Amino acid sequence: MIDRNRIQQQLSQCLTGTDFTQLGKKYTGKVRDTYDRGDQLVIITTDRQSAFDRVLAAIPFKGQVLTQVSQYWFEHTSDIIANHLIAVPDPNVMIVKKCTVFPVEFVVRGYLSGVTSTSAWTAYQAGERNFCGTVLSDGLIKNQPFVRPIITPTTKSDQHDEKIAPAEIINRQLMTATDWEYCAAVALQLFQRGQTIAQQHGLILVDTKYEFGKLADGTILLVDEVHTPDSSRYWLAGTYAEHLANGQEPDNIDKEFLRLWFMEHCDPYHDAVLPPAPTELVVELSSRYIQLFETITGQAFQYPTNHNIIDRMQSHL
Ligand SMILES: Nc1ncnc2c1ncn2[C@@H]1O[C@H](COP(=O)(O)OP(=O)(O)OP(=O)(O)O)[C@@H](O)[C@H]1O
Ligand SMILES: [Mg+2]
Repeated sequence: MIDRNRIQQQLSQCLTGTDFTQLGKKYTGKVRDTYDRGDQLVIITTDRQSAFDRVLAAIPFKGQVLTQVSQYWFEHTSDIIANHLIAVPDPNVMIVKKCTVFPVEFVVRGYLSGVTSTSAWTAYQAGERNFCGTVLSDGLIKNQPFVRPIITPTTKSDQHDEKIAPAEIINRQLMTATDWEYCAAVALQLFQRGQTIAQQHGLILVDTKYEFGKLADGTILLVDEVHTPDSSRYWLAGTYAEHLANGQEPDNIDKEFLRLWFMEHCDPYHDAVLPPAPTELVVELSSRYIQLFETITGQAFQYPTNHNIIDRMQSHL
């Protein structure tokens, strides 16, 4: 249930960062605080909202939604590939097996879509036809599905992720050919599973990103997050065909509207300081994250009774 009052109450208590020094060495990513416990990691998903490779705002309950959506998908894909998840001791916390993560993001796309400079639609419009070995024909329309999903890998970097061809991944020794082929095949299977389950819940999984890592014994695991609203885009299946026929954008439950707001009000790729996101948009985004959690999992979102997330995590760790 979407409880806008409860979301409002949480605005001043978003989880923007943590400082659990006793847990081990801390690594601060754009969204997660990760503590190194040797062969395990404690991954705390905060409420930080990132886009354009930077933090834009804090969104109530986003960390909980991301953790619990990932948990759902790890459970529903573990027959395809083993994953890093060991336990979820708190709604914002995952204990995982520490891996050496391949420096490659496995981006899988089911539809010719997107608005950012790295999106498939932007590239297609600019005349690009070869998408990582899949050659697209002329005359495709925006938001139509590909004949089959395509993989367009990028390098994982601190700055800006860059497109990279599979041959280049192997030449630059980012992955062995065997590991690349295995992960690419698994990524497509995961995407197919994601699309099937999403469809059963009235959603279209449009595109997503996977990360894989290796344990010391050589086992490859699915790591990071899976089919979350941060790593993926979802459209509503019910109105998709009608919107496509009318030349309208599909209905979505994602952060695109916040990205659009920033694109209209500043230059999020270059400005040093960004304007604060309007409160209505922050509440709206929170409600969308919660709606997505409930639609995907079929479970009611459990609003925490304790407003102070740090205290609660402390008691669980
Ligand atoms: N099992 C794992 N073992 C090691 N690293 C992992 C594992 N799962 C996820 N990671 C890494 O932890 C980090 C998660 O942090 P977060 O999502 O906040 O970072 P990011 O913004 O995606 O990227 P960056 O780390 O460049 O800031 C990612 O770099 C991810 O690759
Ligand atoms: Mg990440």
